[in-house]
Amino acid sequence: LNYHVPKTRRDILEILIKGLRRLEYRGYDSAGVGIDGGNNKEWESNAKSIQLIKQRGKVKVLDEEVNKQQDLDLDIEFDVHLGIAHTRWATHGEPSPVNSHPHRSDKNNEFIVIHNGIITNYKDLKKFLESKGYEFESETDTESIAKLVKYMYDNRENDDISFATLVERVTQQLEGAFALVFKSVHYPGEAVGTRRGSPLLMGVRSDHKLSADHIPVLYRCSIIALIHILFTCMSICLCLCFYYVAYSAVIEHTNRVIFLEDDDVAAVSEGRLSIHRIKRTVGDYPARAIQTLQMELQQIMKGNYSSFMQKEIFEQPESVVNTMRGRVNFDNNTVTLGGLKDHIKEIQRCRRLILIACGTSFHAGVATRQVLEELTELPVMVELASDFLDRNTPVFRDDVCFFISQSGETADTLMALRYCKERGALTVGITNTVGSSISRETDCGVHINAGPEVGVASTKAYTSQFVALVMFALLMCDDRISMQPRRREVIQGLRVLPDLIKDVLNLDDEIKVLAEELYQQKSVLIMGRGYHYATCLEGALKIKEITYMHSEGILAGELKHGPLALVDKLMPVIMIIMRDHTYIKCQNALQQVVARQGRPIVICDKDDYETAKNSSRTIRVPHCVDCLQGILSVIPLQLLSFHLAVLRGYDVDCPRNLAKSVTVE
Ligand code: G6P
Repeated sequence: LNYHVPKTRRDILEILIKGLRRLEYRGYDSAGVGIDGGNNKEWESNAKSIQLIKQRGKVKVLDEEVNKQQDLDLDIEFDVHLGIAHTRWATHGEPSPVNSHPHRSDKNNEFIVIHNGIITNYKDLKKFLESKGYEFESETDTESIAKLVKYMYDNRENDDISFATLVERVTQQLEGAFALVFKSVHYPGEAVGTRRGSPLLMGVRSDHKLSADHIPVLYRCSIIALIHILFTCMSICLCLCFYYVAYSAVIEHTNRVIFLEDDDVAAVSEGRLSIHRIKRTVGDYPARAIQTLQMELQQIMKGNYSSFMQKEIFEQPESVVNTMRGRVNFDNNTVTLGGLKDHIKEIQRCRRLILIACGTSFHAGVATRQVLEELTELPVMVELASDFLDRNTPVFRDDVCFFISQSGETADTLMALRYCKERGALTVGITNTVGSSISRETDCGVHINAGPEVGVASTKAYTSQFVALVMFALLMCDDRISMQPRRREVIQGLRVLPDLIKDVLNLDDEIKVLAEELYQQKSVLIMGRGYHYATCLEGALKIKEITYMHSEGILAGELKHGPLALVDKLMPVIMIIMRDHTYIKCQNALQQVVARQGRPIVICDKDDYETAKNSSRTIRVPHCVDCLQGILSVIPLQLLSFHLAVLRGYDVDCPRNLAKSVTVE
């Protein structure tokens, strides 16, 4: 960064650490920074040494460590300074300072690098580098990149080799997926970022007016004077890593960003940015637009809530409105989805719909499958991305494949997308992240517009994905005369949904009392069927994720085929029984549980006194059209998991071992 007004090292560290704090929900087992190390007057001589500060644990531990640094003058001022920082979510090897990023080439920190992704040939690289005398200190794949760049530098044939060229040569040796940012004592004030398979975002801030909206990407062409350029190559881990497009780290500095594409190499030097392509194919005339993010800082602040998850649960009356805004016309019962308009005819002609996703997003597919089958009259498959790939599932040109993903970056879902594209299917993204890999790589799609979701346990994204898929189902049958009464019923259901969600949120105190009764239990079973099977799966996932209690979502139709053996007077059982076409069958399941001395807690319709008679406790929710009722039945379970986690003393937003976006297969 070049500063108009010099900044102290303390200020610079604060910028880096604040950025990490905003990213922390993506990975929080360790963190590190790499900054210019000297304590001289001239920035260039300071940049000839690099200081690494790395810590296990949360960013606040790193922050404390930074303040303990004795050999760093925190008041020294810089006109130019370049620092890189990273938070990590470990998948291989334990979180430790030495396994944290940035990784270094050698004890003098000549080159440092942060990485997100996985280098699949790192063992070969390591073997080669060890044979050349390099000593490795960590268990990570990333370290081989740091050593390799030094090896290439030491063996350069040309003294003038630029940092970008060096990095380009390094990437040619790498296999796997990566987003990388490098810094070096040999290139003071410079940083180079590149990506293949993992996303990389650049925040751009200029105190000068930029002369063009598009920065043409020319071969090795420095383009435009930029004052601040913030790479955001997010949380990485050692052998495997996850990644996400973390707008949140740059948003307080700028809302102008560039999304780098695979094989772009972006170099920042003396406040100038240049981007060039490693490989350029025929017809590839790259232009990297500076895009403006429609995000406000307050959207990623907790406000008066104790956690992001709680805030996001309570945002649902508004987030579902935002999903429908400008798309559903309640007066003439029409639905418009701009992102699908060029492809809707083709979709209507397709042979089959396949919904592919992971985690909560998968549950949104399960939740809407029935209404999709009903309104489209097509076969609908709902697939977990990993299993879909494992099975080499047959996919045909006349299939339409949906990729549902809050982040738009989940590796399994992204791989499944590429698999379906190769087979000629039409691909549709349902994401919450504009500019994410899934939204860019699909043929068309719907942004759910739920606003940033920070809590690792997904809540408002689920209900908005649900609404988006229902809107799609409605669109598919808009010209079917026989469907019109049902369409009207569903659209009018969408109209009242936000108010009904508010009513459910009013049950919060009641649910807290229930949590007080349950929080010391080991297990919770959640049973339901039909439209509410997805609620059972999603409710159980929420409980597992943040309370670490065992929880299982059970299809009530399968109760007698095994799960009933778990039921006794001690086992907490939650049942979802709504007045829809499965009501009688659910009553049977309730009887079966009661007959085994079970004491079920039932989520049911507000006025269902019959069910209440057989329950130890009821949570009564307002009634809505059957295919939307799942939105109302899941919210009590979101609230319950939240209160259970708080009572058990856990950090709701940072559940152990989990991360918000998982960018490794
Ligand atoms: C992770 C998160 C889950 C999420 C899943 C899919 O496992 O912890 O909350 O449901 O990824 O994420 P996506 O961004 O694709 O919806």
